[in-house]
Amino acid sequence: MLNEIKNICCIGAGYVGGPSMAVIADKCPYLKVTVVDLDQTKINNWNDSNLEKLPVYEPGLKEIIKRRRGENLFFSTDINNVISSSDMIFLSVNTPTKTTGLGAGEASDLKYIESSARQVAKHARGETIVVEKSTIPVKTAETIQNILVTSKNKLDSNDNNKIFYVLSNPEFLAEGTAISDLYNPSRVLIGGDNEKAINCLHKIYSNWVPPEKIITTNIWSSELSKLTANAFLAQRVSSINSISALCEVTGANISEVSKAVGMDNRIGKEFLKPGPGFGGSCFKKDILNLIYISKFYGLSEVASYWKSVLELNSWQQERIAKIIVTKLFGNLSNKKIGILGFSFKANTNDTRESPAISICKDLLEEGANILIFDPKVSEEKIYNEFPNLASNKKLNLNSSKSVYESANGSDAIVILTDWEEFKDIDWSKVDNLMRSPSWIFDCRNIINNREIEKTNLNLWQLGNNS
Ligand code: NAD
Ligand code: UDX
Repeated sequence: MLNEIKNICCIGAGYVGGPSMAVIADKCPYLKVTVVDLDQTKINNWNDSNLEKLPVYEPGLKEIIKRRRGENLFFSTDINNVISSSDMIFLSVNTPTKTTGLGAGEASDLKYIESSARQVAKHARGETIVVEKSTIPVKTAETIQNILVTSKNKLDSNDNNKIFYVLSNPEFLAEGTAISDLYNPSRVLIGGDNEKAINCLHKIYSNWVPPEKIITTNIWSSELSKLTANAFLAQRVSSINSISALCEVTGANISEVSKAVGMDNRIGKEFLKPGPGFGGSCFKKDILNLIYISKFYGLSEVASYWKSVLELNSWQQERIAKIIVTKLFGNLSNKKIGILGFSFKANTNDTRESPAISICKDLLEEGANILIFDPKVSEEKIYNEFPNLASNKKLNLNSSKSVYESANGSDAIVILTDWEEFKDIDWSKVDNLMRSPSWIFDCRNIINNREIEKTNLNLWQLGNNS
């Protein structure tokens, strides 16, 4: 019933569904929140008494799960029954880039959205609010509404009481800071055209989000705002990375440039850190989506403008691999390279689109032996990112248990993720373990170079090599 939302459900127990529902359950103890997924192993892990097994690593998440699980937060694969008893249903399924068919390589694959919408149409009862939380192309709400109404009529012509209200409520959390982002969001965006349904969702967020931060828009503005926000953030990373290359050849220092530029209030200091390029499941996919929509509407200049942001990102990864090869005398065969960090950024176990994948592939192609250490990414997850690697190359790829194991006997160390613990490495110990001449490639600019100066190590830092 629209007047009293008691049971909410979220379809998709991934990086968004899990943390966002945990926070709703934490802030709204009067609600029963159930997160459902097709993936039995994932649900088992969400329910495991060993909290180290949670499928998502996020600082602060474990504590909430411990508090709320079994109280008003549940994880289940019993999707149909949970849908039947829910007043509000969040769709938080994955929307990857299409790999085949029309729009392959650019458009979002909406098959998971579609199949979950069909399930909702079939099993929901009475009045139900359906909330798109997944990031989707503009006008997808219309598609969802269509599926809900037409399949409802076909599947269950006897149930004339089924009524659906579709809202768009894109999620802006960033991995690694998901819990604090959810507790203190910069804004909550609700797009829709039914005032009563909007109020229901507004009321939930009002439990902890100040009213001035909850903004309502029409449904298409909401959908487009999400894609635009990610495209603008990614564009800043590509912009600063382009300047990092220029710093290396001119003698300018990227940290100094970044600081000086960011102190202009109109620009701001966030998202000006150079690095091996942006990764994660969102930026590339969402920009591709924007490119696809722009082309669809005949805006080829807009499409190529955003395409260049992606091209710069791939180029940054390729150029880092080339620099490593060049510094190691143009030859990596029989050389060992320790990789520090495999997740796409610190504080997450997510490896989707991590720059480490393409950089490692290029180094393997050159014949290097690679030993990867990441504090939160499992060995299995690392191997899964190289499905097409020939088996002889796979032999050259291993994971290690510590920074020092990766350093042992290696010719180079490459820092690819900005994990806090990499800031406190004992460089003289590393120096003793490595083979000479030994190189450190700091692709996140996190090393204090005065510590390196006390050793025999050679240091290369991004955007700072005059
Ligand atoms: P994810 O892959 O981690 O999780 C999606 C889950 O949905 C998977 O566990 C999958 O098994 C499940 N699923 C798919 N179809 C299903 C169905 N029919 N029934 C039940 N479960 C089903 O993805 P994610 O990172 O959580 O992203 C979800 C959406 O949120 C995407 O659209 C993404 O663009 C968006 N988003 C992601 C982030 C992020 O930081 N990861 C941030 C904001 C928005
Ligand atoms: C992003 C958006 O920030 C978030 O709002 C949205 O909801 C989902 O997509 P996420 O992909 O989790 O979040 O991580 P984000 O912090 O945006 O970082 C993306 C990539 O950019 C990472 O690989 C990160 O290392 C890189 N980055 C970020 C930089 O290289 N430099 C920076 O200054 C900032």
